[in-house]
Amino acid sequence: MTADHITIRRPDDWHVHLRDGAMLSVAAPYTARQFARAIIMPNLSPPVTSIDAARAYRQRIITATEGRAGGAGFTPLMTAYLTDHIDGTMLAEGHAAGVFTAAKLYPAHATTGAAHGVSDIAHIRGALAAMERAGMPLLVHGEVTDPAVDIFDREAVFIERVMAGIIADFPGLKLVFEHITTAEAADFVMAAGPNVAATITPQHLHINRNALFAGGLRPHFYCLPVAKRERHRLALRRAVTSGSPKFFLGTDSAPHTIGVKESACGCAGIFNAPHALESYAAVFEAEGALAHFEAFASENGPRFYGLPLNQGTVTLTRDGVTVPDRLEHGDIALVPFHAGETLGWRLS
Ligand code: DOR
Ligand code: ZN
Repeated sequence: MTADHITIRRPDDWHVHLRDGAMLSVAAPYTARQFARAIIMPNLSPPVTSIDAARAYRQRIITATEGRAGGAGFTPLMTAYLTDHIDGTMLAEGHAAGVFTAAKLYPAHATTGAAHGVSDIAHIRGALAAMERAGMPLLVHGEVTDPAVDIFDREAVFIERVMAGIIADFPGLKLVFEHITTAEAADFVMAAGPNVAATITPQHLHINRNALFAGGLRPHFYCLPVAKRERHRLALRRAVTSGSPKFFLGTDSAPHTIGVKESACGCAGIFNAPHALESYAAVFEAEGALAHFEAFASENGPRFYGLPLNQGTVTLTRDGVTVPDRLEHGDIALVPFHAGETLGWRLS
């Protein structure tokens, strides 16, 4: 690392939505340009609940990214979508066959594409036991869906009502608390055993909930879990720059077309893939913690998942990058995170 360059081992994205069909062809190359591997979210319509579906989706991603990763290749790491009726034996078979890297728990109706999620953890106890035996990580969208709970409290309440119980009942289960947004979640993960880790998105490091209402309603800053108060953003920045191996890069990039974002009932999801690595670099630089950037982006994730570190490097240079106001690919128009802003580091 010099004053004008940061060179790090090729990074991975441990949480991304690449979608399917035409949107997949648009979204996937942005991820493949920066990351060697990515954990692919299974909340398609219908969701990815079988080994065959995951194999077929993996092939569609490979087709969409071929030649788009600077010749270095891009490996999609597939996940199974847990439902009330998921079969633990099938999950373990898919994991052993190298198809499912992990499985994703969406509480039913917690977010976009979560309609088929789990209505009660009691229904998936057998599946969690099978995953624990197989060493297959559980990826958790940690929000309660109880409408009586304030939306800004749903993550903290999930820790008490659900997460603590899963960890107590399945002490050997590898668990990733995905896209954490609160000081409570950061503290919880820090205090848990080495089998518990968390991903943190760029948006939750950059914005607090004021961004959603700055001068009017700002749909492109709406995602779930929703951004919280400033004290939570600061706690997340402390977590990622602490050097703890429990926190790693997971963008939760979730593209929706401008039409469905700018609507009377806009979808949750921030499309941060185009400048994700640069967005994280800005945070580490501002915190004076560039020394911890490589571990967060390229080491902590594979070590937690038990996968090899990537070969090769990527370099960021200090000439900066201006993020376009919108991206148009044929009929698909998207507003990227940081639209219209200039970020200090540019991926070469
Ligand atoms: O904001 C979000 N968008 N959060 C999620 O959990 C799902 C995602 C999506 O698929 O659009
Ligand atoms: Zn997600």
